[in-house]
Amino acid sequence: MLICANWKMNLNQEESLTLFKEFLKVKTANEIVVFPTSLSIYSLSDELKKANQKNIKLGIQNFYPSEAGAFTGEITISELPENIDYCLIGHSERRTILNESDYFVEEKINFALEKSKKVILCVGESIEVRKIGKAQEFILNQLNSALKSVKSLDNIIIAYEPIWSIGTGLVPTKTEVTEIINVIYEKFPTQILYGGSVTDQNISQFKDIEKLSGFLVGGASLNLEKFEKIVSMLN
Ligand code: PGA
Repeated sequence: MLICANWKMNLNQEESLTLFKEFLKVKTANEIVVFPTSLSIYSLSDELKKANQKNIKLGIQNFYPSEAGAFTGEITISELPENIDYCLIGHSERRTILNESDYFVEEKINFALEKSKKVILCVGESIEVRKIGKAQEFILNQLNSALKSVKSLDNIIIAYEPIWSIGTGLVPTKTEVTEIINVIYEKFPTQILYGGSVTDQNISQFKDIEKLSGFLVGGASLNLEKFEKIVSMLN
């Protein structure tokens, strides 16, 4: 399984390094991908090189899809250390708070693939959309738009993250997750993750969903004990 730890805008450089060193000691056959803040990525990259740990990878939470130029405050992929393998794209916090459009998400995906990165593409419906029974349609629209010009799904991993579940403690039922995963898989047969309030307390209900390849964990990945439990439950 693939277990992603999205640290969002949490942990300063020292705290990130301390937690990452602990992650490097976690024994697992699964793959763990840590998404620290951009400011911490160099020190974690150095630590990863020293550790030579094959099961832990690093990813970037954000970048701008251009090689260089007048993009104040942005960072590009070529500036990153080489051992950053993954890019998180389309997270609902970036879509809603930073106004990233479907078009921009598509551009970011194409740019990341050109740079030989693996993409974790996040999709998910709001509570309003779910209530009117349009969740599947909404998610397929997001995917069709984001992956319009993608020729192969080889480096694309899809993360189903219902917006109403992120950081709220609310989780969909196993049936609801299974339905969405199956609908996605039918059109986009690739690795699919679930994300949204995943903890050591609720992960067991999802882990045997047939087409589910892993999890995207936010809050619980900031706590070593909780994250270790999550990883061990998936071993
Ligand atoms: P959460 O975040 O686990 O804190 O709900 C998940 C995410 O936003 O990726």
